[in-house]
Amino acid sequence: MEPYRVKVVEPIPILTRAERETAMERAGYNPFNLRAEEITIDLLSDSGTNALSAAQQAAGALGDETYAGARSFFRFRDAVEKLTGYPQIMPVHQGRAAERILFNALLTPGQLCVSNTHFDTTRANAVLAGATPVDLPCAAAADLDSAAPFKGDIDLDRLTALLTGPDRDTVGVVIMTITNNGGGGQPVSMANLTAVSRLCREHGVPFFLDAARFAENAWLVIQREDGYSEHTPEQVARLAFDLADGAVASLKKDAIAHMGGFLALRDEALAQRCELMLTATEGFRTYGGLSGRDLEMLAQGLHEVVEPDYLRARASATQHLADLVNKAGVSIVEPAGIHALYLNAGRLLPHLPPNRYPGHALATELYLAGGIRCAELGSLYLGEEDEDGNMVKPAPYELVRLAIPRRVYTQSHLEYVAEVLAEIAQHPERVPGYRIVEAPALLRHFNCRVEPVRD
Ligand code: F0G
Repeated sequence: MEPYRVKVVEPIPILTRAERETAMERAGYNPFNLRAEEITIDLLSDSGTNALSAAQQAAGALGDETYAGARSFFRFRDAVEKLTGYPQIMPVHQGRAAERILFNALLTPGQLCVSNTHFDTTRANAVLAGATPVDLPCAAAADLDSAAPFKGDIDLDRLTALLTGPDRDTVGVVIMTITNNGGGGQPVSMANLTAVSRLCREHGVPFFLDAARFAENAWLVIQREDGYSEHTPEQVARLAFDLADGAVASLKKDAIAHMGGFLALRDEALAQRCELMLTATEGFRTYGGLSGRDLEMLAQGLHEVVEPDYLRARASATQHLADLVNKAGVSIVEPAGIHALYLNAGRLLPHLPPNRYPGHALATELYLAGGIRCAELGSLYLGEEDEDGNMVKPAPYELVRLAIPRRVYTQSHLEYVAEVLAEIAQHPERVPGYRIVEAPALLRHFNCRVEPVRD
């Protein structure tokens, strides 16, 4: 049960099927092109889409908008310091700004940036800093159906091989994404983080966390890993931060807010290099692109997100949706994480080959059938085609992510999502495939236009 009740509500649009068809056609069959007023349940992202608490709203009213040295910065800094233990704390407007600043200060061209799985922007910022991103997901991650508890872990054998092999001097940083958003929202174990920390120390490589969902990772550690069942989420999170040299975080997730992030670290010299970039591109070190109001709400959100009753309710809401989805005969990346469910569209729609984009087809169908917006993580996003449009490298899996905003939707909203999916799953063969009409060269899933094909 949610440990809160509703104080303010916002109506959600409920359209007819015909209205949704018109909207989707206008959007070029790309859910990113839909407008908010056309969407009934929006599961596109859990980032910045959260509901604020009354206490966060009240904290916001106390925002101090002094240019430098604002009271709100010190409240924010104290909250991040209490959580992480890091002495050098810089606010940024969102997670990717912290990635850009850190990588430009830390990495030199030609180096490797190694991760369990980079999130898109983390990968892009590594590339922009001249580095080569390397993902080393653990072997268990490849089996979508396995119920292994920590499929977000990095592959320690491959990491050891890299750190002791011919490329060892080119490893610029190891960054662990907790939870592993690019890898099915799976958590990372403390045992894995401890081993990575030890390896990095042994080999003199900086070790950072991408801590966007640090509290949700901590909750799954408490539930799934031996030795942590008596810990609080705050204690587990702190133990994780203790293992690293610093962290970047998007606070649009686990600070239950709309905007914000931080870069926090131990090394003073590195912090000074970062601060230069921060001042030049985000803002002075006591606001970093955020308003005093934001800083206050983030400090309060960081306090609320580690409450066990909140995390328990959120984890069980996602698990409830997973149970209903499974019952409807739709496979997910097992076991369910917290911030999202990843549907196995490739399995549900076997009549659609990768070049008919089964993930995109399912995402589009969820909108047409029920006004539910979500995004594909399959061959439209990751696949590669030759000049004639023939698929030469499909994505490893054809997935759809149902991301769940924090404190926004009730159990009956989630049950509605499962009902719509169950309806589709009764006649999956009716779902058409799609073909690209126009697409930019990069990040095409955001901007492409596609059309249904029945062949
Ligand atoms: N790292 C992870 C693991 C993320 O999931 C995201 C954003 C970022 C970094 C970048 O943070 O958006 O604040 O700049 N993920 C969002 C999502 C966009 O929908 O998963 P940002």
